[in-house]
Amino acid sequence: MPYIVCEPCRDCKYTDCVAVCPCDCFYQDDVQLYIDPDECIDCDACVSECPVQAIFPEANVPDRWAPYIQLNAERVSALKGSGGHITDKQVPKQGPSCRPA
Ligand code: F3S
Repeated sequence: MPYIVCEPCRDCKYTDCVAVCPCDCFYQDDVQLYIDPDECIDCDACVSECPVQAIFPEANVPDRWAPYIQLNAERVSALKGSGGHITDKQVPKQGPSCRPA
């Protein structure tokens, strides 16, 4: 049961989650980060690191964000091999649509 990055990450991209991931399973595009469902080991380390509570275990994803389960898998698949892998914390995006932490 992998962990899922949901809507609150959009335009925020704080990337604190990446710094604690022991299996380097985060990918990014301009909008948000995604977790590789095939590599995630369900360690739970990233959840408490996110300032906007964007990450949930798949079984606990709020109903309104259920589409993010498929979106994480689809985007990781598309981003693999195209430079989307992120393994270090970066300067947060904190764009205009990012909620205050
Ligand atoms: Fe996104 Fe939160 Fe990580 S905003 S980049 S899921 S720390």
